Amino acid sequence: MPAEAAMKPESHRTTPDSLDPQDWQDLRNQGHRMLDDMIDYLSSIRGRPVWQPIPDAVRSTFQVGLPYEPGSLDDAHRRFMQDILPYAVGNSHPGFMGWVHGGGNPVGMLAEMLAAGLNANLGGRNQIPVEVERQVVQWVREILGFSEEASGLFVTGTSMANLIALWVARVAMLGTAVRKEGIAPNGGKLVAYTSAGAHGCIAQAMDLAGLGTAALRLIPMNAAFEIDMALLEAAIADDRAAGLQPFFVAATAGSVDVGAIDPLSAIADLAVREQIWFHVDGAYGALGMLAPEIAPRLAGMERANSVALDFHKWGQVPYDAGFIMVRDGALHHATFSSPVSYLRRESRGMAGGSPWPCDFGPDLSRGFRALKAWFTLQVYGADKLGQVISHTCALAQYMKQRIETSAQLELLAPVSLNIVCFRHRGKSGMDGAKLDRFNADLAVAIQESGKAAPSTTLINGQLAIRAAIVNHRTESAEVDALIDSALELGETLSV
Ligand SMILES: Cc1ncc(COP(=O)(O)O)c(C=O)c1O
Repeated sequence: MPAEAAMKPESHRTTPDSLDPQDWQDLRNQGHRMLDDMIDYLSSIRGRPVWQPIPDAVRSTFQVGLPYEPGSLDDAHRRFMQDILPYAVGNSHPGFMGWVHGGGNPVGMLAEMLAAGLNANLGGRNQIPVEVERQVVQWVREILGFSEEASGLFVTGTSMANLIALWVARVAMLGTAVRKEGIAPNGGKLVAYTSAGAHGCIAQAMDLAGLGTAALRLIPMNAAFEIDMALLEAAIADDRAAGLQPFFVAATAGSVDVGAIDPLSAIADLAVREQIWFHVDGAYGALGMLAPEIAPRLAGMERANSVALDFHKWGQVPYDAGFIMVRDGALHHATFSSPVSYLRRESRGMAGGSPWPCDFGPDLSRGFRALKAWFTLQVYGADKLGQVISHTCALAQYMKQRIETSAQLELLAPVSLNIVCFRHRGKSGMDGAKLDRFNADLAVAIQESGKAAPSTTLINGQLAIRAAIVNHRTESAEVDALIDSALELGETLSV
């Protein structure tokens, strides 16, 4: 062995293979087959069951040891088609009405492939992908009626967006010193308010922000499932009298259980009077601004200090695409920016373009979520998304009528937007826990039939079958499938 070769470290003597293919044409052919399969999947989705139970044998194929040796892409693709694709939860299917899941869209799917190919890290730096995110931020300002001072950021979902809002509000109340000292010196008295119908992630955000869920007042709702303003005001007065410091109220625009919209203008007025942060959880409802008949019902949201929303719900962008907008962008920046030498900014070169997205949230490495939202808005246009949103609400009204004209079914909550809560009256003499069990079993039977997919919730302590119509593919045929299945399976269900 020559002397200089012997001195080189081992890894320098052999060039390891990269992860790129030996034959790009093979990869191209395989990639085209994969794309064709997904286009086939979406174009023929109506012919599939919404959801089907997962066989144990399939589940166990995902409980094996780490593969040390290479496998073929063709095999992995075959596994996907055979064992993964058929057993997803089915929210792309027009019959899916469980929880609040968006249906995605084909253009967003293609954009995801482009984003993955580019492999951009949207933490920051001087790159056009960050400008694409800024473009969507600008569009969200336009949708919500916010000014240039407002900042925006893509995040995983509204759970994270609500948490970010709470972190910013905490800095607004306690000053940036809280970032160093923690909340202990002054934060022990902070209290927050939301409706009893608010999503559980608001309480979770209180927990994660170190403020504690005990400092969150869950204000009862009125008959329309909106926060009771008199009780909210009374709770704030009581807390002040007890020496506590009210600092944050989270209104909901489109509640998770029934689709109620809290009185946003009245809450905005109250927040000004009380000098507290006004946040709107608009997970799905905020994009109702795109629908001409819903936008007026969201009046007051434009006065919020912060709004959380999800493009992956009514915005139809593939998961995940949550978003936070903060009126005072400088405060938002002051909540998260952390100068460190290895993220030093310059006025030119790749480290230009400050502030960066990482200065507005906890994530440094971030994917290119903005691209699928940009494509979706660019290709379909905001008006089309608004029409989809309106259509889902019209379908909810149709479902309400079907329930009201079916003697065996009863509505359990007003239908304010796109969510319908109902139950089967069950067999004669059935009530209380037995009727709840019957309806829970009925919801499962409908899911297992593959014809429709509702979820369940509790409305005034009664178990409700809940249909949230979010998907742009849903039509009256799917509403009929759900109601017909509830009636038919309700007849045959053994109790
Ligand atoms: C009103 C409301 N807030 C928050 C969330 C949580 O959103 P995400 O699942 O995107 O975190 C949801 C989810 O359905 C919701 O409906």
